[in-house]
Amino acid sequence: MAIKLTKEQQEILDGKHGDTKKRVLKTLIMYGETFGAKKLVKVTSKYNHLVTAFGLKALGPVYNLLNKLLEDGAKSGQQFSVDPRPLDKNVPANFLQKLIFNKFMYSKQDFYEKQLKELGLMNEDAFTCTAYMPEVGNTPKKGEVLSWSESSAVVYANSVLGARCNRNSGIMDLMGSVVGYVPYFGLLTDEGRKAKWVVKVNTTKKPEAQLLGSAIGMKVMEDVPYVVGLDKWLGKKLDDETCSYLKDFGAATASNGAVGLYHIDKLTPEAKELGKDLIEKGAKEYVIDDAELERVKKSYPVVWKNPNAKPKLCFMGCPHMSLEQLISWTKKLDTALNSVNRKKVYIKTVFTASPGVVKEFEKTGYASRLKEMGVIVSSICPLMYMNNPLCGKMPVITSSNKLRTYTTARYYTDDEILSQITKGGKA
Ligand code: F3S
Repeated sequence: MAIKLTKEQQEILDGKHGDTKKRVLKTLIMYGETFGAKKLVKVTSKYNHLVTAFGLKALGPVYNLLNKLLEDGAKSGQQFSVDPRPLDKNVPANFLQKLIFNKFMYSKQDFYEKQLKELGLMNEDAFTCTAYMPEVGNTPKKGEVLSWSESSAVVYANSVLGARCNRNSGIMDLMGSVVGYVPYFGLLTDEGRKAKWVVKVNTTKKPEAQLLGSAIGMKVMEDVPYVVGLDKWLGKKLDDETCSYLKDFGAATASNGAVGLYHIDKLTPEAKELGKDLIEKGAKEYVIDDAELERVKKSYPVVWKNPNAKPKLCFMGCPHMSLEQLISWTKKLDTALNSVNRKKVYIKTVFTASPGVVKEFEKTGYASRLKEMGVIVSSICPLMYMNNPLCGKMPVITSSNKLRTYTTARYYTDDEILSQITKGGKA
């Protein structure tokens, strides 16, 4: 065995903590050895985050696995948050869609949520991909070792918070939490956190977060990029607006490529601390200007059946929006609708945010204003909502590059979305 175990780990492998934990540890060892790990290290974060939040009928083996863990007392060593639910009765769906969602696709949702509670779900509101936001309370600290798997959350935790986590698969995240160890390789190591790419941002205006992230993700794939020139547009402080930008930017790098960590010169914690020492010798270079962003945007295929169809639904908030984004979008919509003398949005629009953020938003006067303008606020996962043949046929628009990548939703920049939903696309 290439992995050297500590005394405690060896005891688990010898079955002294039960047969189930022994098997879980063995799985982690095999996983680690595949990636060249030489040891297992302790998971040090207070909470875990699981990616599998949907009670899909087809996930029988997952439910059996969770039952086995529960029966054998091999519960998650940590409490955890989990990705957003796939269902919300407030999000528009026709009779047939509702039937398919409730009776076929997600018929095991209640059963699965019961299992999650028994395993150690943080609380009823812990269903979001932005668990790291203060309103949710699962915010890892710098240097902490995690066993997470949601790609948008992993890249945020690594890059903006300075925690250490690999891009684990779903279920493997749970395994790490059950025994409290993860294999030491990749983004857990100093070496693995070095940049193989230097990305130079030379745009004439603040680049769209989702477009810049997409361009970088598609170029560097799973490598770590060190981005220079972005501090000119974002400043040198990780305030709410900048964190929201980096959330969307990171999700696009992680979904349009497979980025698990990025460094932003003069801004993100490790870049501030170590600067250009984080760049590997011989790193490749990628220059991004206005023309390059335009080229990337034009490369997205339009997969609607009728490319000229009138949009039926607009989804904003993949990953879930922050409080700052909900408020700034309410203000933007208010101004835009007033300028065209309209009271409500043209297209059915859903803004998604974590239950914790929605609760805080509802304490502000903006929530009722957003409702008056016809926007629905939900904590659903738009991808899970759209991931079926019925919704696939629907012309949906979004400014999320993750949603565009995994569904038939069509990407527009934030300004284009604003124009579509307030003026029906007219300039
Ligand atoms: Fe979050 Fe679902 Fe998008 S988990 S990142 S809203 S795909």
